[in-house]
Amino acid sequence: MTKVYIKTFGCQMNVYDSERMAGVLGASDFEVTDDEKEAEYVVINTCSGRQHAEDRALSYIGAAIKNKKVIVAGCMAERMQDELMAKFPRLHAVVGTFNFSNITSAINRGKKKIFAGVTEEKYPVKLRRNEKVRGYITIMQGCDNYCAYCIVPYVRGRERSRDVEGILAEISQLATDGFKEVMFLGQNVNSFLDEKTNTNFSGLLRKSAEIPGIERIRFMTSHPKDLSDELIESISATPKVCKHVHLPLQSGSDRILKIMNRHYTAEWYLSRVRKIREAMPGGAITTDILVGFPGETDEDFQQTLEVMRKAGFDASYIFQYSPRRGTKAALMESQLDEKTKLARLNNVLELQKKISEDITKSYLGRKVEILVTGPNMVVKGMMEGITDNSKKVIIPGDGSMTGKFFRVKVIRAQTAIMEGEILK
Ligand code: SAH
Ligand code: SF4
Ligand code: F3S
Repeated sequence: MTKVYIKTFGCQMNVYDSERMAGVLGASDFEVTDDEKEAEYVVINTCSGRQHAEDRALSYIGAAIKNKKVIVAGCMAERMQDELMAKFPRLHAVVGTFNFSNITSAINRGKKKIFAGVTEEKYPVKLRRNEKVRGYITIMQGCDNYCAYCIVPYVRGRERSRDVEGILAEISQLATDGFKEVMFLGQNVNSFLDEKTNTNFSGLLRKSAEIPGIERIRFMTSHPKDLSDELIESISATPKVCKHVHLPLQSGSDRILKIMNRHYTAEWYLSRVRKIREAMPGGAITTDILVGFPGETDEDFQQTLEVMRKAGFDASYIFQYSPRRGTKAALMESQLDEKTKLARLNNVLELQKKISEDITKSYLGRKVEILVTGPNMVVKGMMEGITDNSKKVIIPGDGSMTGKFFRVKVIRAQTAIMEGEILK
């Protein structure tokens, strides 16, 4: 059988798309291998979110193409298409973000080398999963929000939700395969709507929670503008739905939020935080912060730090603004210099570290329930588990514990990862 290796860059949705491609290939005449050396074909699933992500993929392609047949898939494939072909004349094929299900045709290609542009998307029910306990499911594609800095709407197309039926079938398959957790993915899951059955996001959560075997449901990402009180209440009212909301703030300055086209203010954002805390005591809130947007003054930046302090995020993904060709912000005149952007990035990192440490410390001596996801990669002989509110806890044990729930007492809580002992 022809062997294919898949290398994935970018976000969780790309991880899912790679699992989809692997599922499609495995159902055909290909063997997906985890060892790049033995593969005849290498599929590189790419991200266009930041320049750095594109640069890393370009150098990966450059190295792989020397002795493999290379297919470039994903967001860069959609964005660059023939530009990639011109850059790498030996490239076997280009597979854009609407064409993952056509990966076999791209490998068995005739003259046509570019598989991109809008076309009907298909989702196999059986994917080749990287994990054994948590399964990711993309429930909607694309984005209509056009935040001024973001490339996603251009490389992923218009927002569209999948059929509830297909999603439920995929969850049932996960349950059959022994998975305990699903995580729904989308750029803005709060606006999920299956028009055929008139099911919104709350409805999807409710229906998914009825599937036996799946004990936990997570989701990512929520856009603050679409996170209504009703939605927060239905998240809190469905026991299997984990009490963790990933709610990207981006900036704490109303002036910048407006130019970013985010459609909310710092006050609205904080009202969402208060509502979540009220409806889900002990729940977690995480965020994305974007520093160095064009024209961001020190005062704007201080407001971001201020909202971060008030919100007390459990964790933040912090990004330094990177201009993306084709977006509105890339054309703005007041681009900041690298030094200022980097200094702000470090500031935010430092503040978040302090907030996270304080939260972690407060867990010392507490009893929590964890779902064991597998061995810890750092400490030998330790297994790793995750709480409902996404805290990692390591405990002594072995592989037989994977996929099972344990009640543990937290006995160490200095760093980001806590250590626990099993309660009998
Ligand atoms: N749909 C999600 C975000 C998806 S992109 C949302 O609206 O929140 C993930 C994160 O990448 C964004 O939240 C943003 O913080 C960051 N990001 C997007 N474009 C970027 C750019 N041009 N430079 C740096 N970071 C960027
Ligand atoms: Fe990008 Fe904004 Fe859409 Fe998120 S909501 S994917 S940041 S355009
Ligand atoms: Fe994800 Fe990067 Fe594409 S963040 S959607 S892989 S541009």
